[in-house]
Amino acid sequence: MEYAELEGTHQNRPVQLPGQWKGPVDFWQHRIQYWILLEKRATTAPRIPSTRLALHHFDTSYSLHLGELWPSVRAGLLCEQKYGALLNNFSAVDHVTQELELLNATDFVSEALQKAQQSQRGAAAREAVRGSQEGCVQGRAVIQAETITQAESSPPFRASIIPKIKCYTFPRGDITRFCPARPDILGLLGYYLMDAASLLPVLALDVQQDDLVLDLCAAPGGKTLALLQTGLCVSGGHLAANDVSISRTKRLHQILHKYVPREIRETVSVTSYDGRDWQDVDGGTFHKVLVDVPCTTDRHSAMEEENNIFHKRRTKERQMLPMLQLQLLMAGILAAKPGGEVVYSTCSLSPLQNECVVERAVEIAETQFNISVHVEDLSHFRTLFQDTFSFFSGCRLGELVLPHLTANFGPMYFCKLRRM
Ligand SMILES: C[S@@+](CC[C@H](N)C(=O)[O-])C[C@H]1O[C@@H](n2cnc3c(N)ncnc32)[C@H](O)[C@@H]1O
Repeated sequence: MEYAELEGTHQNRPVQLPGQWKGPVDFWQHRIQYWILLEKRATTAPRIPSTRLALHHFDTSYSLHLGELWPSVRAGLLCEQKYGALLNNFSAVDHVTQELELLNATDFVSEALQKAQQSQRGAAAREAVRGSQEGCVQGRAVIQAETITQAESSPPFRASIIPKIKCYTFPRGDITRFCPARPDILGLLGYYLMDAASLLPVLALDVQQDDLVLDLCAAPGGKTLALLQTGLCVSGGHLAANDVSISRTKRLHQILHKYVPREIRETVSVTSYDGRDWQDVDGGTFHKVLVDVPCTTDRHSAMEEENNIFHKRRTKERQMLPMLQLQLLMAGILAAKPGGEVVYSTCSLSPLQNECVVERAVEIAETQFNISVHVEDLSHFRTLFQDTFSFFSGCRLGELVLPHLTANFGPMYFCKLRRM
């Protein structure tokens, strides 16, 4: 059935008046009949499932955006999502690691790190050979030193120096599910199950020792927990986790409670401000800001009726999302120090909620706040994590993980900005 037909079955479709117009006496009679008919329609008209409205919307817009990739992405969205197990470094990790490895799960973060180091060593060795072939011993030493320094400071190396974050996934094509995590003797759970692609924005943030970090839309707290796993936000640095929703902030507290020892979770400041007003709270102070905005949550919208943003009642809210996202990203940029970095992320495939929001924010920062913002290149993430995720190669800005039947993570869009 076409969308227009579906729309037509709704109660707001014009209803023909029964009978002919017979003058003023009949007016109220007809009017009442008309209202009764409308009432009946309202209760009997089949409600179109929000998931179906979502899919129709996606078919229309994403087939244009993703072209021939869309059918396979669509199949991924409609099939069971794959999870990653974020290792909880605050628990008895040795035991958990052993258990996960026995299941044939591997830590995709350290695998990528090893791969990057190997390829950089390879590049350094090739350069050294080139130097020696050029014959001059002194020249060779200089080239070697330069090459190693270049390799170590190149983006792939820097982006993966968060060795403490470990996330286990099953190999491509393996759809085994993880069991729920169990508590250790101190009552802390061994791992947190999440879409492994959700870790990429956290890795892109590249938290360093002593950084002041803000997670502007933090609840229910998967990324906050991942940020804490670095161990860098608490020793010397500081982590502020905010979310406007009081009920979701409670869930964030619960997660911290289940995974993080008290002395550490008490260092995290959890607030429930409207993130758009952050400038009034604490502007220009953070080294790193994560802006993981509310979005159309495409996978959820295609699969679940409950709390679906494609429900007719939520049309206005859905249409206003890009505006809310832009305001939140602007607040994130203004919360960062000059030189600070902001990662913007969504779990939608929509360019209107992804690249367009970033482009508009860069423009507004420049024109209205006289702040220059640079969009960082994250293309090395594609190389680093290509064994685990399917990336879209057509993003104008930032990176996008596409759902795929053999690696059914995402969607996850992330883009890194630097406030100059
Ligand atoms: C995608 S979710 C965040 C998920 C979270 N980062 C995680 O990894 O678990 C988006 C969050 O934005 C919050 N939110 C919506 N509007 C907001 C606002 N104006 N200020 C702050 N948070 C907001 C929602 O309550 C929701 O929890």
